[in-house]
Amino acid sequence: MIEKGHKNWRLEDIDFSMLRRELVVNDERLFYLLASASFVEILSEIYTDNLIEHYRGNDDAALWLKQTWQREELQHGRSLKAYVKAVWPEFDWEASFSGFAAEYGLLCSMSNLESSRALEMMARCVVETGTSTLYRCLYDYAKEPVLKHILANIKADEVRHYAKFRRLFIELNHAENKGALAALHVIWKRMLEIHGEDGYIAFKHAHRCRCGASESLDRDWIGFKNGLNALVRRHYPFHMAVEMLLSPVPLSSRMKRMLGFPLTGLARIAVIIQGAAF
Ligand SMILES: [Fe+2]
Ligand SMILES: [Fe+2]
Repeated sequence: MIEKGHKNWRLEDIDFSMLRRELVVNDERLFYLLASASFVEILSEIYTDNLIEHYRGNDDAALWLKQTWQREELQHGRSLKAYVKAVWPEFDWEASFSGFAAEYGLLCSMSNLESSRALEMMARCVVETGTSTLYRCLYDYAKEPVLKHILANIKADEVRHYAKFRRLFIELNHAENKGALAALHVIWKRMLEIHGEDGYIAFKHAHRCRCGASESLDRDWIGFKNGLNALVRRHYPFHMAVEMLLSPVPLSSRMKRMLGFPLTGLARIAVIIQGAAF
């Protein structure tokens, strides 16, 4: 099921002969970011099965999740995996991913979903806001042309995913009539999870395959987080993130505009404070 007017892309069409490895091979921070993103994207198959089960009987949601969303998320993971393997061929991606999948897969279950179908769509909007803005941030940062091509494709997909989940939230919420407070609560919960375990688990398994069972894991993790913080401060689209988060919330446009400016400022301050805390 491909949306009208949308031109699909394929990993097979990415021209890896254009790769300029020298522009990226020494970028440790980018290595961990791309390896971690490839793990999480490929593992999205687990969430999809949970989600499809949650929307059984709602063909619009269930069919789109199965036929479009799952396929595109897997392609994101496969493209990032192919890129990591092309730039860092000595890295044993398969061994690292199997360690990550075994540990992280245990954390993915139906109990992570919102019991309300509308609010789970709100939660999906938060996740897709995270991926849309992350890939836009990386696209802005990246210099290597093949990576830029892959990231341009992925970030466009993520924005479309967000738009679909937003529409599904609004439709489902006509019946459920959840208010702004319930929607804001979901945003808050999911925002807290962004600093949760998946990033550390992915880093740990990538680090293990790259450096062996090393005592430097915790020190390197802190170094990576510091580097990430600097990248986010410089390249992250804070305003876009706040606009996307607030857009589905059942509030007036005036209220969203009033909240948008201070929330963008707060998000920037939170990143600075978090950076200072390391
Ligand atoms: Fe994705
Ligand atoms: Fe997505």
